[in-house]
Amino acid sequence: MCGIIGYIGNRNAIDVLMHGLKRVEYRGYDSAGISIIENNKLVTIKKSGKLTELYKVISHSNHFSNIGFGHTRWATHGEPNDINAHPHLDNSGKISIVHNGIIENCAILKDLLLKQGYTFKSETDTEVLAVYIGSIYEKTKDLTEATRLALSNIVGTFGLLVISEYEPDKIVGARRGSPLVLGIGQNEYILASDQTAIVDYTKRVIYPDDDEMVIVTKDNYILKTLDNIEINKKESTIDLELKQLEKKGFEHFMLKEIFEQGETIENATRGRMIFDTGNIKLGGLTEVTDKLRKARRIILTGCGTSWHSALVGEYMIESLAGIPVEVEYASEFRYRNPILSEEDIVIAISQSGETADTLEAIREAKRKGCTTLGIVNIVGSSIARATDAGVYLHAGPEIGVASTKAFTSQITILLLLALYLGRMNNISQMDGIRIVNEIKLLPKKINTILQQAPSIQKIAKQYANSPNFLYLGRGYNYPIALEGALKLKEISYVHAEGYPAAEMKHGPLALIDENMPVVVLATKDDIFDKLCSNIEEVKARKGKIIAIATEGNTGNKVLEDKAEHIIYIPETSNIITPILSIIPLQLLAYYIALERGTEIDTPRHLAKSVTVE
Ligand code: G6P
Repeated sequence: MCGIIGYIGNRNAIDVLMHGLKRVEYRGYDSAGISIIENNKLVTIKKSGKLTELYKVISHSNHFSNIGFGHTRWATHGEPNDINAHPHLDNSGKISIVHNGIIENCAILKDLLLKQGYTFKSETDTEVLAVYIGSIYEKTKDLTEATRLALSNIVGTFGLLVISEYEPDKIVGARRGSPLVLGIGQNEYILASDQTAIVDYTKRVIYPDDDEMVIVTKDNYILKTLDNIEINKKESTIDLELKQLEKKGFEHFMLKEIFEQGETIENATRGRMIFDTGNIKLGGLTEVTDKLRKARRIILTGCGTSWHSALVGEYMIESLAGIPVEVEYASEFRYRNPILSEEDIVIAISQSGETADTLEAIREAKRKGCTTLGIVNIVGSSIARATDAGVYLHAGPEIGVASTKAFTSQITILLLLALYLGRMNNISQMDGIRIVNEIKLLPKKINTILQQAPSIQKIAKQYANSPNFLYLGRGYNYPIALEGALKLKEISYVHAEGYPAAEMKHGPLALIDENMPVVVLATKDDIFDKLCSNIEEVKARKGKIIAIATEGNTGNKVLEDKAEHIIYIPETSNIITPILSIIPLQLLAYYIALERGTEIDTPRHLAKSVTVE
């Protein structure tokens, strides 16, 4: 969850750390801190609250160092305050660590250390690890070895950095289950949880795998396993441009990302559609084509917004490819001993490629012999590397915690995948050609919706103080109702529920009165008339209808009579509709949050990348 960055080189480490922390702040933002080694002495500064609080303290200090690390926290153990903020020190005060992950056996270790006379200041599992490393250092007098031995006894996950004034020219890093990337610059190294914190200095990186360590000095680095075996790894190149990390004049990253969707859909489809045969070319799947052809069942798994994409994907794949699909929350799938066979394909959907539950779900599927695929945005991420094959979104970095452009890219890739499988099975060339030609029109259609932002903002202003919202949709728009409600909850802290429209009468109808805004996805499809009956049910209870409708649908007359507001999306076929119908809902959530004055890009308690279970 947390963001970490370490630096060793010739620059002032403090500048690099503070800049890097800003880049990874979206991973967690309840407190932040740094440790540096200045004139062979460890200096640690940490502060609860957003990164700006730490800035205030640091800008009044005059420290200089060429080595150090920083951390921005999303609390797991212990409330967010100055003491629980990272870094944490051992009992000598000479070893400092920053940690992302959870130490599951920390209670046992703490007990053991307390009995040996060690003391603790915070409630965190990370301090237990720091004290434990310190206790081993007393015997080994070797920082790398003390870290290695401590980690060998750890149950849980870690992306970890250690520095010490005992060995002031070295950073020791290690990972298991939480990300850690080594950036290789000119006489400098950067270690970070995220490539966005590295790209300012270098594009050359190495991705350590689980249970591997990296020991970095100014002129060198060594990789080894936790079993103490030295290893070599190939360098990779970060596929990211600095300008992609800027707001480009938008007030928030989220708004910028909503507005990028015409472009990101184009990036997701570029070179992947063959227009004269209606076929799909997905280079990342070449090696598993045979397995896909023989697939008996597909299981789509993910968390949060990515789970909603999976729901859309289920409808798409079943309809175009005729292969049975199941959708599983990754967190449930990994623990419930799912019945899997070698003919099953398990597909992880993840923007970050680092979500702990999704990664573990994939590992469980692999253990059971399934073919695993990833639909992932971040190139080189843990899920991308853990799966047998996959398709990248190419959506560029998504910084706003509430996912927007990654969602539409995920469902676009799922549509391509459905058509790819469909063309192997029962979809005709004519139908294939029709679908790819419709997909091609998406960027233009998305831009038409985005032009309506000012009128959506007006609607948002009117309802910004409503304490509850209901979102209704059927068919392809049912997952969109869930996603629309999630967007509102995440960034505006307004209670919102998404429901399949027909299910409303089995409960939520009781909530409806003249104060309840009901967002209804009423686009043109073969169940439009059924949806109109659901609208009547809401109206009969005086609910306020905000409808999303298809331009030119002859059925819109009913909506014009019943709805307080109608937002139109361009016509497209049923299967493509969700890529368009979510966009007004993203804008509605954004403008309601703007009106309510919440922290849109970094909503309270949430984090972009959830690397703990
Ligand atoms: C967090 C984020 C969500 C995201 C979910 C899954 O909860 O705040 O926006 O949908 O994690 O993340 P992933 O990176 O796996 O898509």
